[in-house]
Amino acid sequence: MAPAAAGLPALPAVVRDEIAEQRDSRLKWYREARFGMFIHWGVYAVPAGTWKDRHGAEWIMNQAKIPVADYRALAKDFTAVKYDPTAWAQLAADAGMKYVVITTKHHDGFALFDSAFSDWNAVKASGAKRDLISPLAAAVRARGLKFGTYYSQSQDWTNLGGGKGRDQPWDEEQKKGNFDTYLKTIALPQVRELMDKFHPDILWWDTEYSMTPERARPFFDLVTSHPHLIQNSRLGGGVLGDFRTSEQRIPASAMLGRALEVNMTINKSWGYRADDVDWKSAQQLIRNLSDIASKDGNYLLNVGPTAEGVIPQPEVDRLCAIGRWLKVNGEAIYATRGGLYLKPLDWGRTTQKADANARTTIYLHVWEWPADGKILLPDVKQPAVRGRMLADGAAVNSAVTPAGLVVTLPGVARDPDVSVAAIEFAAPVEVFGAPPMPKDLGASGTLANPSKSP
Ligand code: GLC
Repeated sequence: MAPAAAGLPALPAVVRDEIAEQRDSRLKWYREARFGMFIHWGVYAVPAGTWKDRHGAEWIMNQAKIPVADYRALAKDFTAVKYDPTAWAQLAADAGMKYVVITTKHHDGFALFDSAFSDWNAVKASGAKRDLISPLAAAVRARGLKFGTYYSQSQDWTNLGGGKGRDQPWDEEQKKGNFDTYLKTIALPQVRELMDKFHPDILWWDTEYSMTPERARPFFDLVTSHPHLIQNSRLGGGVLGDFRTSEQRIPASAMLGRALEVNMTINKSWGYRADDVDWKSAQQLIRNLSDIASKDGNYLLNVGPTAEGVIPQPEVDRLCAIGRWLKVNGEAIYATRGGLYLKPLDWGRTTQKADANARTTIYLHVWEWPADGKILLPDVKQPAVRGRMLADGAAVNSAVTPAGLVVTLPGVARDPDVSVAAIEFAAPVEVFGAPPMPKDLGASGTLANPSKSP
């Protein structure tokens, strides 16, 4: 192994033993999906943001230092009486999302499925008295979407021996037990239950605290024994995972070399908080999707349902608005690759797609419609074959100039959020002076220098 760069821990990089073609076909659907739904749902929805005079969302047990017995008592009000998994799956489909990832067990240790390894679950300990994951998995798949399970492998504030992350136990109960025993007798067997019961397409780990290579290994082996499974980069112990996550933040420029997923809330909280009404606008969310796609990433956008199982209406409204935009402009998002330029452009973003004959379409995501209708693609010196507006098919003309390709957009903005022009070329488009988009490195098993991976 190459020496670690200064400041980076010298962990062995654990990657799946597969060749690039295997990895590419395993990740194909995921790369093409571009847009998914994240669902944070659990007992923390009961206090809905406030416990006594303290506040928090899915971290409220920790932030308000709620004793284990008091927190367990909240579960009777986790009723899921209005839970309609079919409607949730339909909402994801209507929003144009291609996959759904739900918290099957968050840091509070509460499992939304029946478990033989801990009674702290929806069936045995909550007012819902039933498994909440199976019906969602079925409804999601019935709509042709993929299904992923979030699982907090290290932090578990309730089950015996579970990790407390960077915090000290706040209850005598939490001092009992042993972390390695917890991993062996609760976490690992529960992940096996997830596999057996729900056959997830994605395993979404969360928080790496205390996960050494030795502790991560059985989880890694379990996941990689399922040939199709995709996992994120949060298992810990040096496991790179298949995609890296960027939480609440869109990278400033394209991240080359590994699949990227930006996961983000619509307000400020992951779990339901009645007092958090700081909603992002539909325009912001649509532009985020455009921005992330231009950086070759997926957007995993979160909803936080109530304890009764209702997705807040402001979230529903925004998802429907994104869905309407995607119905017209989805061609510029799904199955595209990152755009022509590493850095964002003043007027908007680009994505691209090539067919089997390498004929290439560049999508111009126009955020700010130029007053004179003209957009310069700097350093592009190839003539376009044709161009059209996705909204209405209107022709888009362009001409090669010494500075690059000048595109003339017809008429006025088609959409106040993002209007898209598709410009077709006979061959892959080169941007003179820019480095080519490199092949992915992440999980191919051919990573030359792990210390250089982002
Ligand atoms: C963080 C938080 C967690 C949230 C997650 C979403 O790791 O611990 O509460 O579920 O990010 O990405």
